[in-house]
Amino acid sequence: MVLALIFLFLLSSLSLSYGYDPLDPRGNITIKWDLMQSNGGTNDIRVSLLNFQLYRHIERPGWRLGWDWIGDEVIWSMQGAEATEQGNCTRFKGGALPHCCEKTPAIVDLLPGAPYNMQTSNCCKGGVLTSMVQDLSKYVSVFQMNIGAGKDSDFAMPENFTLGIPGYSCGAAFRVAPSRYSSDGGRRWTQALETWNVTCVYSQFLSSSSPKCCVSLSAFYNSSIVPCPKCSCSCQGLPGSKCVKFGDTPPLLQQLKDPNQVQPSLVRCSQHMCPIRIHWHVKQSYKEYWRVKITVNNMNIIRNYSQWNLVALHPNFKSLTQVFSFNYQPLNQYSIINDTGMFWGIQYYNDMLLQEGKSGNVQTEMLLHKDPGMFTFREGWGFPRRILFNGDECVMPPPDHYPRLPNSGISNKLSLPAFFFSLLFLLIILC
Ligand SMILES: *[C@@H]1O[C@H](CO)[C@@H](O)[C@H](O)[C@H]1NC(C)=O
Ligand SMILES: *[C@@H]1O[C@H](CO)[C@@H](O)[C@H](O)[C@H]1NC(C)=O
Ligand SMILES: *[C@@H]1O[C@H](CO)[C@@H](O)[C@H](O)[C@H]1NC(C)=O
Ligand SMILES: *[C@@H]1O[C@H](CO)[C@@H](O)[C@H](O)[C@H]1NC(C)=O
Ligand SMILES: *[C@@H]1O[C@H](CO)[C@@H](O)[C@H](O)[C@H]1NC(C)=O
Ligand SMILES: *[C@@H]1O[C@H](CO)[C@@H](O)[C@H](O)[C@H]1NC(C)=O
Ligand SMILES: *[C@@H]1O[C@H](CO)[C@@H](O)[C@H](O)[C@H]1NC(C)=O
Repeated sequence: MVLALIFLFLLSSLSLSYGYDPLDPRGNITIKWDLMQSNGGTNDIRVSLLNFQLYRHIERPGWRLGWDWIGDEVIWSMQGAEATEQGNCTRFKGGALPHCCEKTPAIVDLLPGAPYNMQTSNCCKGGVLTSMVQDLSKYVSVFQMNIGAGKDSDFAMPENFTLGIPGYSCGAAFRVAPSRYSSDGGRRWTQALETWNVTCVYSQFLSSSSPKCCVSLSAFYNSSIVPCPKCSCSCQGLPGSKCVKFGDTPPLLQQLKDPNQVQPSLVRCSQHMCPIRIHWHVKQSYKEYWRVKITVNNMNIIRNYSQWNLVALHPNFKSLTQVFSFNYQPLNQYSIINDTGMFWGIQYYNDMLLQEGKSGNVQTEMLLHKDPGMFTFREGWGFPRRILFNGDECVMPPPDHYPRLPNSGISNKLSLPAFFFSLLFLLIILC
């Protein structure tokens, strides 16, 4: 049994590092490239980025799409996004200049509130893409461009797409059935001349070699708190690991030269050195239910997490009765193992996890039904099997450190149903 569990764990961690995620097996970001018009050496292109992931989202500063042109194509104009560099356009001097002449352009989304004549529908979100479970209205980003053809006047699909977000890698472009667009209220359909898909998948291993969160545990029946494992994310004093001691004020932030770059994280000093700590507390036991409190602490001094989410695995989630202060949705409720769920903040209440400090945390309590035959407080059963924050696996304490039941009294009383069931089972076998 234990061996099987270890094997399963190894399997899941292995597969995660190669970009396959059993919790979201079809999860990907698709780049859809529609050739809308092609005439006289210029082409109209419509590019859509679709985040088909259940629980991973793209935060500010957002996506930064790149590709390699096959020939010497240039981008004459662009709506809904912009190239970060115009590049060397000297070969067009004496006339109108293109928007971008780079061989490998880098495209970023416009910010919300961009001038009306630069917008397209579904643009201008500062590069943010929400996950599909959290917000179905913002998981797509669209921009349009007019390009000058390369060597031949025919359009040639570019290569080597990148999303500009750590952890994502994109495959080759595939020709797919042309996209269709409805007009006149759905009475008429038009379609692209040609459409290609590029699929990009996430791998935590590619994103960063060290974890980004850890889990601590406690229970009402044991006064000791099991902290995050030491050096979960980094070690204090290791070269390259910086932290700010309690009581010290953080150094003034340096303005990054490039506003499209992510601020590196700067954490409050701790044994685990993680920017995010999740605490799971088994709070109370009732006759039919038990109560868990989840707290997410932000230890990052210079970062707010917007639209954060948490994925957790616990065998009792199939009987989750109530979650008080987060949104909740089971993730694979139609498969045989209904033990995974996703939590995220309630809009305008706790969907923003503020930087380290007094308000740098979000929390909820939940009620779970004690299913007879399954429920027990023994052997750490009340604790989660896995926790992911924003799609990244968190470091758990080793199972033999979990808070243990005191040896007498409460444990026997609580496992009474389990006891009866095993008795019944024995009887059935014996008869
Ligand atoms: C990407 O996600 C979409 C939507 O879930 C799915 O239809 C498609 O098959 C996925 N692509 C790959 C290559 O898995
Ligand atoms: C795409 O990348 C490969 C490998 O880096 C390179 O050999 C190839 O020339 C690139 N394609 C284009 C069109 O630049
Ligand atoms: C810009 O491109 C032209 C040819 O298109 C080339 O002659 C010139 O050297 C390039 N300039 C730089 C700075 O690369
Ligand atoms: C291509 O991408 C679109 C996203 O709009 C998706 O609906 C479609 O299933 C994809 N096709 C293939 C063959 O992956
Ligand atoms: C986080 O949000 C708070 C409140 O909106 C703001 O005062 C603070 O400057 C933000 N911090 C960062 C690092 O963006
Ligand atoms: C899966 O669990 C959820 C609660 O997390 C529950 O509402 C749902 O009915 C369960 N589905 C199945 C098929 O048991
Ligand atoms: C609480 O749990 C710890 C860690 O498993 C264990 O060492 C300790 O004996 C437990 N305390 C009691 C009172 O059972």
